[in-house]
Amino acid sequence: MTEQTGIIAEQQDYYRARAAEYDEWFERTGRYDHGPELNDRWRHEADEVRAALRDSGIDGDVLEFAGGTGIWTLELARRVASVTVVDASAEMMAINRQKLADVGLAGNVTYQQADIFAWRPRRRYDAVFFGFWISHVPDERLAEFIATVRAALKAGGRVFYIDSKRESSGTAADQPLSEPENPVMTRRLNDGRTWRIYKLFRTPTEMERAFRAGGIDLTVRETATYFQYGVGTVGEAPE
Ligand SMILES: C[S@@+](CC[C@H](N)C(=O)[O-])C[C@H]1O[C@@H](n2cnc3c(N)ncnc32)[C@H](O)[C@@H]1O
Repeated sequence: MTEQTGIIAEQQDYYRARAAEYDEWFERTGRYDHGPELNDRWRHEADEVRAALRDSGIDGDVLEFAGGTGIWTLELARRVASVTVVDASAEMMAINRQKLADVGLAGNVTYQQADIFAWRPRRRYDAVFFGFWISHVPDERLAEFIATVRAALKAGGRVFYIDSKRESSGTAADQPLSEPENPVMTRRLNDGRTWRIYKLFRTPTEMERAFRAGGIDLTVRETATYFQYGVGTVGEAPE
């Protein structure tokens, strides 16, 4: 096993172990509580991205990579025909399923437990969404992941993603961010256990170039402090 495949396996283990406390990060509670001002700013900027998702015209049958506990699955399931979630963690998907069931949207969503780096589409979708996933894809695997996105899309299909800007208050105070020269960071759970994961903070230009090289025309925007998001369209159907 190379160091890279080891870290890719470790980040799957990390998210399995983190599932029950994952939403503390997005809800800004516990170790992720940075006080009312920054918490409000986080929520306001998350709303800004939700509005961009609504305005993006993403519709129809949507494939969601790394759906996790369903924070964005919920947004999608409210307004599209169907969502197919691919995630490696059964623990994450159990929470996702319950969250959707609680609001009567479970019927719109199907789940596939798989390693995204090995997963290949069996059909084409109208859109592909991924939230806080692409920052966990190392540079060496980025083109391959984008090729999988493209292969999963119909001609004219859409892409939407959200991810983190480099901002220390985006995470817990006891988790220093990774640096460009070493995109591996140590993540900690509430009980103190640690894992190594990839966390890459790519610039909008880097993202747009990488997707364009993979045949997807992407426009990337950023909120003031916390989030980067991209909206894209695939031109022709992949070979
Ligand atoms: C940062 S979370 C994002 C969850 C959700 N999209 C969100 O925005 O909150 C990353 C997700 O990727 C999943 N994951 C990590 N490595 C994976 C892999 N190799 N294949 C599939 N899913 C993976 C984890 O289980 C976790 O649910």
